Amino acid sequence: MKILLAQTNHKLKDRLNLYLDNLPTSVEVIETSDISQMKDLLEQIMGIDIVLTCHENSSFEGMKIASSLLKDYDCDLVVNTEENLEGSLEYKSFEALNERSHLIQNDVNCETFHNLVLDILKRRKDLSFEYTEEEYRKVRLIYFLRCNKVLCDVYIKLSEEKYIKILKKGDIYTRDDLQKYREKKIKFLYVQSEDYEEFGAGLSKTPFLIEDKNLDPKYVEDAIINTLDIVHEMVSESGVTDEVINLVDYSVYQIENTLEDDRILSRLLASFKDRKDYLLDHSYMVAYFSNSVCSNMDWDSEEIRKKLSYAAMLQDLTLADPELAMAVNLQTADMVNYTDEQIAYYKSHPQQICELVKKNNKIPLNVDEILLSHHEKPEGNGFPRALSSHRVTQLSAVFIVAHSFVDELYREEFDLDKVSTILARMKKRFSTGNYQKPFDGLMNVFKKTITVGS
Ligand SMILES: [Fe+2]
Repeated sequence: MKILLAQTNHKLKDRLNLYLDNLPTSVEVIETSDISQMKDLLEQIMGIDIVLTCHENSSFEGMKIASSLLKDYDCDLVVNTEENLEGSLEYKSFEALNERSHLIQNDVNCETFHNLVLDILKRRKDLSFEYTEEEYRKVRLIYFLRCNKVLCDVYIKLSEEKYIKILKKGDIYTRDDLQKYREKKIKFLYVQSEDYEEFGAGLSKTPFLIEDKNLDPKYVEDAIINTLDIVHEMVSESGVTDEVINLVDYSVYQIENTLEDDRILSRLLASFKDRKDYLLDHSYMVAYFSNSVCSNMDWDSEEIRKKLSYAAMLQDLTLADPELAMAVNLQTADMVNYTDEQIAYYKSHPQQICELVKKNNKIPLNVDEILLSHHEKPEGNGFPRALSSHRVTQLSAVFIVAHSFVDELYREEFDLDKVSTILARMKKRFSTGNYQKPFDGLMNVFKKTITVGS
């Protein structure tokens, strides 16, 4: 059974997915947030049973698909909306679908939604399902990454009969609290049925932690890494959407806000020592260091720092394998574990993310150029364009210096005592062309605390 889920609002989509995950039968859900892609998917994928689309006037008029369904397809159409669509032009085709057309409100409750979907499936597949009142309902673990406080008790499932409470109502949890379950490949946590409806409503309405402009600095690091984690998934599902940009923008705001904090460097180095996800962690650190380098150069401006933070957050969003990224970036012995094709694919990621970003006009200017250049090297043998130190732009050079510094930190396992050695090593490479000024900026970051031999 296949459902094509076309939604523009990510939070609302998650709520619907929460309901779909808890149907008493498994369904294959194909997602899109793009109206023209919805039409393409419908054409390409055989046997779609239900198109479940939102309808928002002027931004995503999902109901318009009704006319194609009428002519060319036999699937059912469920439209979720907050608008009154009766009397609109598309409503006529929608109505003409008769028993295949269903209109629901965005805040539909779970039971109504389940009954609707099950009734459709019963009619289409001639199967009989009943709405079942379970004691526990499953919730994707990744949904818990958006906040750090639970509003109801949360469980893990050990067996059909046995559930264990892991978080109690009101608990504040950290990323690590969740990671230990993710490392065991646990994809779902559970809440009690009585809390489920409210949980679903919260999912579509509650802002992410990163959106809290008064966020306590001690939560910023987790909030940024978790947001990067979520954004990674969003990009793999739907590309660089406005919602991705919105979350990146909040992250950039939080980064800017904590830069003044003197303790951040030591905290950063201490906490990243044992971290495993290179893709997420190094993105955050590159954001931090590219901002620091820029602040220590003579062309610092809020606008420039924003471009750097955006690029740092976006740089590796098309990649999925942190080990491969780390092996190639640090040129470690692990590189032999990967095929030439895997490495070639990895090396194409600057172009991939650059192309995705170009499609979104809300991203600050020049971010695409930084992204395309972020693996160039001062020796002129980087990828994809092997730019010389004079061809790379000043802005990209700031980013590359910060990126290289972070990779050096990984090489030295975040040992603060090695920073002077790192800077001495980098000095030999980066005292050239457009890298010179950013490298001087990097030296200034550490000038107060560290003396670097020449
Ligand atoms: Fe990269």
